Formats: sequence, structure tokens, C-alpha cells
Amino acid sequence: MNLTANIAGFNFDHILLNAAGVVCQTSDELDSVLASDYTGAVVTKSATPSLRPGNVSPRYHELTNGLGTINSMGLPNEGFAYYMDYVTQKQTDKPIFFSVAGLSKQENLDMLHKIEESKFNGLVELNLSCPNVPGKPQTAYDFETTEEILTEVFSFFTKPLGVKLPPYFDIVHFDNIANILNKFPLAFVNAINSIGNGLVIDEETDTVVIKPKGGFGGVGGPIVKATALANVRALRQRLSPTIKMIGTGGVTSGRDVYEHVLCGADLVEVGSQLAIEGISVFERLEKELTAILTEKGYNSLDEVRGQLKIIE
Ligand code: FUM
Repeated sequence: MNLTANIAGFNFDHILLNAAGVVCQTSDELDSVLASDYTGAVVTKSATPSLRPGNVSPRYHELTNGLGTINSMGLPNEGFAYYMDYVTQKQTDKPIFFSVAGLSKQENLDMLHKIEESKFNGLVELNLSCPNVPGKPQTAYDFETTEEILTEVFSFFTKPLGVKLPPYFDIVHFDNIANILNKFPLAFVNAINSIGNGLVIDEETDTVVIKPKGGFGGVGGPIVKATALANVRALRQRLSPTIKMIGTGGVTSGRDVYEHVLCGADLVEVGSQLAIEGISVFERLEKELTAILTEKGYNSLDEVRGQLKIIE
């Protein structure tokens, strides 16, 4: 079965990888994703210029009914230099995505300048969608600022770069963000980050389940799948074909991966289920995906990608 993909000249032998934030904060975690025989790449935790401990705990919770997770991690990460060392020194055949999430436009520009000047020759993900830093809104909900940042970035940045987006919920917003993104030579768009600022309440204690931001946090897992698929589909329909899609959100089975591909995903990231199940999730998902493709008579994901049918 051909499960390969290509983004900006980088070949991926497998379609799956981790979502930024899950099993990717330390070099050991990043190594464990790369070591899996069922991953096509790895993405780093989104880096900020300096190390951040993140928000207070409890800051991550798995819903007891299996619906998903809520978190307000607050971008805990080892700092830009740590990930720069990792991505420039790591010997691997798999592409590496270096994710960055500055807390201001200037922080993003400063980190991207350093990447531009470095010997890093992988892919860069500009995360414009973290919902969990108190006082900092999700940048990509502000269309004007998003366009301003990308204009400045592409005035100097020449390496393959994509953006990680929050979910959008209105057709007009799909149109608006796609119109902006199509103005730039983006290598890829990654949709979606968690659905920001959900609220989960413990039935026994009538208390929120995470401490930061009074319990508000990013929601992931099965509960966000429909929103993730809608965003992948809507953006694939609107973006230039040169901009590849990474589908993230609600993936717990091979069928979920298959549906992301039907909507147009080139690669598929696993977040909540990776946190819950561990690295072995990639083997299970790829085997389930392959079984579906075989049963349907396909030899390659290329035959499926973007082939979602609608009711005429
Ligand atoms: O809280 C966090 O670290 C989440 C980051 C993200 O959603 O990008």
C-alpha cells in the first residue's frame, strides 16, 4: 500500500505524525516519534524564544466518557535554542517540522530570522493558534494581524513554511482566511488546533477539571472530529493546490485518518489519542487505515485524497 506524501519536495513514507504539543517537548520524546516504523515525520513542541514552564497544574484532563481531552498547558517548552539544536543536529531520514509560537509578532519574526540564518533545512510551522496563554488571543482569529505577520515573514523567509490554524466555524471565515493564505507561498496549512476555551465540569464536585484560566481550555479528541474535517475540507477547497494540507483533530481510528484524507489531508497528525495511547497508536492507526484501503480496492492514498462525495 502506498501511504506516501510530499510537501515542498520532502517525501513522507507514512502519513502519520504527532501533533505539536504531544510527545515532542524533549529530545527523548521527539526521538520516540521518529523511531516509530509508522510515522512519516515529527513536529516539535511549539517553541517560544525562552524556556517556559507553562501554566499551573492540573492543566490536562481526559474526559471520562471517552469524548476527548481538555488542556491548558500554556506552551511549556524547552525554549527555541533547545529545539534549534535538536533539528539541526538530529540524523534522520524523516522530515522534521520545527514549530514556533511566539507570544508577539516580534517574537515570531525574531525566531524565523534565526531559522532563516541557520543551517536547518526542514519544514517550519508557524503556530498562530495556541488558545492557552492567558491574555494572548489566538492570532489567526485576527485576519488583519495574520496578513500583516505573513507579509513581514515572507519579506525575508525563504525556507518551507506553513501555518497552524485554529478551527473556524463560519463559511465566511473559511473564505476570509483562505483569501489571505493564498497571497503567500506557504508550503502547508495545518488545521486544526484544539477548539479553544471549552469548559469541562466534574460531575462529583461541580468543579472545573483544569486550573488555568478558571477551567477554560483547548478541547481535542473525538469531540472535535467533525469540526476538524470541516476545516480540512473547506480549506482544501479554497487554497491553492500548491499549499498542502495537514489534518489534525479527532483521530482515534484508521477510519478517522481515512476521512481526513478524503477531505484533502496530505498528512494527518495525532494529538489526544497519542497522549492517551502512546507511541503504539501509530502502528494501530496505520494498520486500520491500510485494511480500509485494501477492502475498498485502493493501492494508494493518492486515489482517495480529496475524493469526498457530496449528495447532489
Ligand atoms: O497550551 C499549549 O501549550 C497549547 C499549544 C497549542 O495549542 O498550540
